[in-house]
Amino acid sequence: MSLPEDITTFSKKDNMKTTNQNLNQQNLRDSQTLTKPKILAFAGSTRTDSLNKKLVKIAVNGAMDADVEVTFIDLRDFPMPLYDGDLEQQEGLPANTRKLKDLMLTHQGFLISSPEYNSSISGVLKNTIDWTSRPSEGEPILACFKNKVAGIMSASPGGFGGLRGLVHVRSILENIGVLVIPDQVAMTKAHEIFNSDGTMKNKTQEEQVKNIGACVAKILIKLNSSTI
Ligand code: FNR
Repeated sequence: MSLPEDITTFSKKDNMKTTNQNLNQQNLRDSQTLTKPKILAFAGSTRTDSLNKKLVKIAVNGAMDADVEVTFIDLRDFPMPLYDGDLEQQEGLPANTRKLKDLMLTHQGFLISSPEYNSSISGVLKNTIDWTSRPSEGEPILACFKNKVAGIMSASPGGFGGLRGLVHVRSILENIGVLVIPDQVAMTKAHEIFNSDGTMKNKTQEEQVKNIGACVAKILIKLNSSTI
């Protein structure tokens, strides 16, 4: 089959063959369509045995089934002081905030599992969002968050599964420009739901959690391949 001169074709392995000699156009298409979407996954808990870390790792598995890259991070590796406007004015953003912002800027999606603390978002997660929402010099407003896609979830030993906290997590993220997918999961009795290898005992529940990751991945793939 012959193709018009300006059509770019892709093999199954994403090796690009182009009939177009215009390299600038080719580079533009590379950046629009060939880079795999990247998802940053983390829990709003730093605890070693965090149920929310376990939960978000299940969603990561769901995303990995699609053609995306996923980076799992532990917020324990990015300790930050409590947000303080005077500190920011005197010293700028803390080193770990800049480190995390750099990472966030290279990812188009988020998978976030947030514990519910007193019916709301955990302090660790809110503080992390507050610091990373602050602009570095010359940076567009909310650069780490605007137009990103997120899937959210929660795990709690309690009977609500962290659902009340998720309302706040969703609201905060949406208000800073993140598209949060409608589906979410709130796992009740979460201290009883995981096997020792990190998988979930109930396979139907496990699929629900994996679907959150898969959904974010599929949306990002579609956005990545469209030429808006
Ligand atoms: C909690 N926990 C809790 N659970 C819940 O379902 N609703 C709540 O409002 C609260 N509030 C709350 C406040 C504080 C300060 C703590 C420390 C805990 C219990 C919480 O869900 C439980 O500790 C989870 O295991 C925390 O998540 P990780 O660390 O396991 O991911």
